[in-house]
Amino acid sequence: MHVVRPPVDGRGAVGEGVLMPGPGALSPATEAALFADAGLARGADGVLRLGGVALAEVADAVGTPAFAYNADAIRARYRALAGALGDLPHRIHFAVKANSNLAVLRVLRDLGAGADIVSEGEMRRALAAGFAAEAIVFSGVGKTADELRAAVRAGLGHVNVESTAELERLAEIAEDERRDVSVGIRVNPDVTTDTHPYISTGKSGIKFGVPTDQVLPAAAFIRRHPRLALTAVAMHLGSQILDPAPYGEGIERLRELVERLRADGTDTIRAVDIGGGLGIRYAEEPALDLEAYARTVVPRLRPLGLTVYLEPGRFLVGSAGVLLATVLYRKHSGGKGFVVLDAGMNELVRPSRYQAYHAIVELAARGRPAETVDVVGPVCETGDFLALDRTLPTVEAGERVAVLGAGAYGFVMSSNYNTRPLPAEVLVDGGRFALARPRQVAEQLFRDENPTPFD
Ligand code: LLP
Repeated sequence: MHVVRPPVDGRGAVGEGVLMPGPGALSPATEAALFADAGLARGADGVLRLGGVALAEVADAVGTPAFAYNADAIRARYRALAGALGDLPHRIHFAVKANSNLAVLRVLRDLGAGADIVSEGEMRRALAAGFAAEAIVFSGVGKTADELRAAVRAGLGHVNVESTAELERLAEIAEDERRDVSVGIRVNPDVTTDTHPYISTGKSGIKFGVPTDQVLPAAAFIRRHPRLALTAVAMHLGSQILDPAPYGEGIERLRELVERLRADGTDTIRAVDIGGGLGIRYAEEPALDLEAYARTVVPRLRPLGLTVYLEPGRFLVGSAGVLLATVLYRKHSGGKGFVVLDAGMNELVRPSRYQAYHAIVELAARGRPAETVDVVGPVCETGDFLALDRTLPTVEAGERVAVLGAGAYGFVMSSNYNTRPLPAEVLVDGGRFALARPRQVAEQLFRDENPTPFD
């Protein structure tokens, strides 16, 4: 799915030889599909609206850079996924890491979602957004003792352990706290996925999950422990997966394991967690076929007679969010055109980190001629770009653009590098918009620091 970007005119250019999937310009059909996924529409007047709200109004009100999330687009995704699973007993745990804004979490909680978390911080957010502790699953390869203790005290639904060492630590904490704990074992099913190597997580030889040959001994340890019960077997294969086949393979492995665990005397398992990873459309790639996904997973899961847990993040929120930015300057250098935005790797690191493709569109379309430019941010790094060699309508300084597909792994991965305040976040719902998190101000970034710490 990735193509190698050819060198530009044989010169050393930014991004030369890196993976840059996606086209220079979007085809009308792709733009229409991306708009439909997000709930975006362009009026005859050229005005871009998200969930019925003119994004220029949002940008006027809160400034740029800012993220805007369309609640209805999130709801549509949730319902489509739940609908595809039909009457299979299941619970969708939203992977909070994808977008942890409390207003977004509340939309998902109100739909009946649970939460999948990977830190105490995410646990506190999920609880603050109103998720019941029982509806929270704690995943993650490196939970600290303090985090495990906080989870045990809060009475989370399951703690998914990723190593026998972590299991032993959890056992000590459960004893110490005199609390019963429901344990899930996240298995590494050794399944290959066609996604970026940084976000492929289900293959043997990477840091995630308990290898299958260690699962039975871990389960025996849990059976012997008075405070622990093995209630779930889990996997997570990776992220931005568009082909359902690896899920089928992974589920087969989990199924064999559940049968062996049952034969071995474990009778407490009530859930099988098939993780997240469902991909979305960013460019010309075909969208994940939800019906095909359901046809792959449901018949394999049903015979287990367990509740099926899912942990999608990106699929639920990725398309629903846009990043609003203002063009600061246009410039030419070395025969290339550059559009310098007030947003870059601070706000959306995905292009720079994974060479990810994000479509960029104008807030006000005026039918201007196209040009091919690098769309870059203000950060002092050559790798600070949102798009390379992108064909866009000519946008002038002061005009605003929306970067699509920014609802997942956008704000949550943003940074204060260059002492740049984190952007605002806005929720769009019912034809209205409201600030869900104000833009930071610079003083917030250093008010806890002390220039003279020895005084
Ligand atoms: N469950 C577990 C245990 C995970 O590690 C993840 C994501 C998910 C669920 C949710 O995956 P999703 O459904 O969103 O694909 N920053 C990267 C993605 C990292 C995903 C990490 N784990 C990106 O921007 O592409």
